[in-house]
Amino acid sequence: MDVSPVEVDEIVRAVLAARKYRAVCPDTVRRIAARELAARGSFKAALKETKSHLHQVYTAFERQVDYEAAHRRLATAYATGSASAVEAACRAALGRHSSTAERLPILDDFYAAIWAVAGAPHSLLDLGCGLNPLALPWMRLPPGAAKPIESGDVLTPPKMQKPVQEEEAAKRAKPAAKPGAKPKP
Ligand SMILES: C[S@@+](CC[C@H](N)C(=O)[O-])C[C@H]1O[C@@H](n2cnc3c(N)ncnc32)[C@H](O)[C@@H]1O
Repeated sequence: MDVSPVEVDEIVRAVLAARKYRAVCPDTVRRIAARELAARGSFKAALKETKSHLHQVYTAFERQVDYEAAHRRLATAYATGSASAVEAACRAALGRHSSTAERLPILDDFYAAIWAVAGAPHSLLDLGCGLNPLALPWMRLPPGAAKPIESGDVLTPPKMQKPVQEEEAAKRAKPAAKPGAKPKP
C-alpha cells in the first residue's frame, strides 16, 4: 500500500515533539511510521503504533537521559584528565539505561571475568549498544578495538575510545613540557 509522505512527515513531527522521543534518530521514526501507516491505513493508528514500537525498543530501557548534560559532564571530566572523574561521569550516564544500570555494582570485575573465559576481543561491534560504549574504560581493550560507527554520536566522543588507564600511563611516561621550554622536534 502506498503511503502519503505528508502523513509520514506528520507522524515524525508529532513523535519527535514528545520529550521522551526527541533524541531518537528521525530516520528510524520515519521508517517505523511508513511501515505502520502502510499496515494500518489510518493516521491515528499509525501514530499510536509508532510510539508503541519506539517504547518497546527505546524508552523502555532509557530513563529520560539528558544527553546534553551527560555530554557536558563527560567533556569536563575528560578535560581534567582524571581517570576517577571520567569513571564517575560514565557511571552517572550508565545509570540512566536499565541494561547498564544493572551492571554498575559489578562493573569493576565484569569484563575482566568475561575476557578471562572468552579471551579479550581484538575488535568490538556492539549493535543496539544503548549507553554501553560508556563502559569502555572498564573493558581495557587494545587501542582502536572499539570504534563508534557514528562519529557524531553525542555520547561517544573520540576520546572515549581510549581506555582511561592507557591515557594516564601515557601522561606519566611523557611529562608535560615546562612553560617557556622549546618544543622538541
Ligand atoms: C536490551 S538493551 C541492551 C543495551 C546494551 N547492549 C547493553 O547491554 O547495555 C537493547 C538496546 O537496543 C537499542 N535498540 C533497539 N533497536 C535498535 C535499533 N534499531 N537501532 C539502534 N538501537 C536499537 C535499544 O534502544 C536498547 O538501548
